[in-house]
Amino acid sequence: MKVTVVGAGAVGASCAEYIAIKDFAAEVVLLDIKEGYAEGKAMDLMQTASLNGFDTKITGVTNDYSQTAGSDVCVITSGIPRKPGMTREELIGINAGIVKSVSSSLIEHSPNTIIIVVSNPMDTMTYLVHKSTSLPKNRIIGMGGALDSARFKYRLAEALGAPISDVDGMVIGGHSDKGMVPLIEKAARNSVKVSEFLSAERMDQVVQDTKVGGATLTGLLGTSAWYAPGAAVSGMVQAIACDTKKIFPCSALLDGEYGLSDLSIGVPCVLGANGIEQIVNISLSDAEKAKLVESAEGVKKTNGLLVL
Ligand code: LAC
Repeated sequence: MKVTVVGAGAVGASCAEYIAIKDFAAEVVLLDIKEGYAEGKAMDLMQTASLNGFDTKITGVTNDYSQTAGSDVCVITSGIPRKPGMTREELIGINAGIVKSVSSSLIEHSPNTIIIVVSNPMDTMTYLVHKSTSLPKNRIIGMGGALDSARFKYRLAEALGAPISDVDGMVIGGHSDKGMVPLIEKAARNSVKVSEFLSAERMDQVVQDTKVGGATLTGLLGTSAWYAPGAAVSGMVQAIACDTKKIFPCSALLDGEYGLSDLSIGVPCVLGANGIEQIVNISLSDAEKAKLVESAEGVKKTNGLLVL
């Protein structure tokens, strides 16, 4: 398994670190446009190998896509992150051009790769990769739901006073403050619905805190988060590398599923060696359906800003 991570900023470096620590990939190539930057990050990470006990070989390259040739999975984190007070959607102008050129350079050297898109606005950037390349749709996956669900579980555990390992929950819909749809009615503590433990007001609070999870961190840090995004990507890459068939909510190109078409948005997907192996059609309550439709309208509006 060879993985390329484009962008050696905080998110890209975290991806490389978590992938290496899990020790399932032979090679991770970290690529950045800033001279020497990816090389430096790769060297620092390799100097943790004996300490953290991994054999994954991490190399860094400056904008040399020939070094990424034959990658099984490519992760795109490039572009600018949001600053406090910004929405992810406001990044479209700069990031669309970057994501388009990065994806075409990656595919030139790795025509059979699976691409995971992290750059924001993520659902729209994922749609852009679908529209601007000829990769089959199961090989282009947006990372958002895995991260948003991790943030949801964190908030659920906090509200329940429970260990995170006892909590299950999923976030579907767009990866945006307004568009996320945390499936609170389905969230559970060890198979027991959380509504058995939490008041309606507390559940509402968990949903609200989850939706602004990234924005809250951006306010505190002055830039977008990286540990949880990196961990979410590494979990998805591991599912592909090890063909686990685990379900992750991913931004997938829909063609009628959930009554939606011609957009990429977060829905539960089985991930395995072929990328998205199945879009899982779960039954949604009327309220959940209405929120997903509203979220899709938001994503489509942002997609409408793309010059395709
Ligand atoms: C976040 C970025 C990755 O939510 O969108 O932290």
